[in-house]
Amino acid sequence: MKIELNKNKVFFNNGSIKKEIHPFWLRERVSGEEFLDKGTQQRLFDPTFLDNEISIDKANITDKFLEIDFNDGVNSKLEIDKLALEFFNEDTVLKSIPKIKWDSSLKEIKNFEYQDNFFESKEMYNLLVSFYKYGFVIIKNIPTHDNFIVKFANSIGSVRRTNFGEYFDVKSKPDPNDLAYTSLGLAPHTDNPYRNPVPCIQLLHCIESEVTGGLSTLVDGYTVTEDLKKENFDFYKILSEIKVRFKFIDKEVVLEDWSELIKLNDDKTFKQVRFSPRLDYVPMLEKEKLDLYYKARKKLSEMYNSGKYRIEFKLAPKDLMMMDNHRLLHGRTVYETKEGNRFLQGCYIDYDSTEGKLKHLKRKFNL
Ligand SMILES: [Fe+2]
Repeated sequence: MKIELNKNKVFFNNGSIKKEIHPFWLRERVSGEEFLDKGTQQRLFDPTFLDNEISIDKANITDKFLEIDFNDGVNSKLEIDKLALEFFNEDTVLKSIPKIKWDSSLKEIKNFEYQDNFFESKEMYNLLVSFYKYGFVIIKNIPTHDNFIVKFANSIGSVRRTNFGEYFDVKSKPDPNDLAYTSLGLAPHTDNPYRNPVPCIQLLHCIESEVTGGLSTLVDGYTVTEDLKKENFDFYKILSEIKVRFKFIDKEVVLEDWSELIKLNDDKTFKQVRFSPRLDYVPMLEKEKLDLYYKARKKLSEMYNSGKYRIEFKLAPKDLMMMDNHRLLHGRTVYETKEGNRFLQGCYIDYDSTEGKLKHLKRKFNL
């Protein structure tokens, strides 16, 4: 990628394409104390107040800088490397971490060990990279006192509060408002599909585990989606087109949101799955369409519930699992309350927490 000049016009050239850079785009990016606050790097001027007819009177490239005299009298030296980072219209940091598809054959995934100064360490950066690759990580040795999970979550970003509170205790209790608070097995599902937006990441911290059952289960919704697309495109298509209503009610709130079971990005790549067959309501569509939809949902459910895709493991006290609620499905096997206690604490954070931390640590360690 090179920057070139031709008669007071600035071009970028990536070897195959040469395009003019709009003078206003460059004018918005002027640097120097007069234009940018040193600490925050925020603009000290409002570009919406500038004249649209900005042009370049003179431009020069010296070493790593592009020096421009604009027609409104402003002169600025722009860092070429910094400009080049903006030529990609997407998040290059996250794009550089490809998702790794996995199924029940997943073995030897690295666990992380909590220690002093963990949140500002390179290990934290590696943890976040692993999280974006696999959709989950397990961190061992997390203190279990004083709802430490909240401190953990707030040290990465901010807790995302829901109707279940800032954090929630997962143990069987009388008169529960969700099956999570029983000792029943839970089939793979995503949490809070009825919320807008759906919480992005769930943290689950094991405090006590005295039962033989109660294993945690995970399924990669990304892998299942990609496999379904290959194996039965019509099923994949209808599940990514029909929006269904997810609904949750209790004594205090009625929550509803509409979404496809498989949500795609504008470019048709994977974005999110929602799956909670106790809470979804498909609209009343033509019979033929619903015929296909019900077959497709059944197939999807069979895949999510199949041993081919599921991993099972036991969280030990002090283990904390962090999982992507837009990508993974989670569940648990049944357990027997007579055997002893099973007590987990959970809370949610959103993607801006993990992304912000990842980018900060990348900058800090120059990675
Ligand atoms: Fe859940």
